[in-house]
Amino acid sequence: MRLAERERLKAVAANYAATLVESGMVVGLGSGTTAELAIRALAERMRQGLLFQGVPTSLRSARLARRLGIPLLDPGAVTTIDMVIDGADEVEPQTLALIKGHGGALVREKLVASLARRRVIVIDPTKLVDQLGTRSPVPVEVVPFAWQYPARALTALGGQPQLRRKRDGTPFRSDNGNYILDVHFGPIADPAGLATAMKVITGVVDHGLFLNLADLVIVGEPEGVRTLQK
Ligand code: A5P
Repeated sequence: MRLAERERLKAVAANYAATLVESGMVVGLGSGTTAELAIRALAERMRQGLLFQGVPTSLRSARLARRLGIPLLDPGAVTTIDMVIDGADEVEPQTLALIKGHGGALVREKLVASLARRRVIVIDPTKLVDQLGTRSPVPVEVVPFAWQYPARALTALGGQPQLRRKRDGTPFRSDNGNYILDVHFGPIADPAGLATAMKVITGVVDHGLFLNLADLVIVGEPEGVRTLQK
């Protein structure tokens, strides 16, 4: 799919998701290019009178929201979020299981998704896969101290971890100051088992397998939106 068409379809999904927000809601603001389109669409609705407060999933999304005049809440101070709108790297249509974290915001994204009553995912059709792991590695956030230990443990689980680096070669750091290992597993036969096994590795903060954390997936398609629900 051509890049321009993909961008158009991301906007189709993001704009539709923004119409689901109602006045008075607390809204989780996702991270990544598609979620940012949804933030922009929400700001547009705000200019037309929609009243809502946002909870950002990354410093970048917080900066964008602030620039657009969206009032933000401290994530630590909220106990419930009405709806979060976020992107994904891969989506399994039957289960709505996701891989997230290509942007490095997976820990904050998972926390906000866990606080949310309704989790809405916005994607273009290239993100749909028959089995998780087909296209994307699983990003895993690890503490920088002796990060090689969790890397070895992830290798023992059958993955090929690669420390994410910036263009200048230095390690990428998440908003939490941690490192990200992009772990190539190939198609994942047992996502729940792998999720549990990764979570208990010392040094792992969290991973990008999002299981049971999506209620509605909005796919921007050439002929309009397609919605997927469990
Ligand atoms: C950010 O950490 C990610 O989880 C993004 O939501 C995901 O990578 C999708 O991003 P795009 O919408 O830019 O593809």
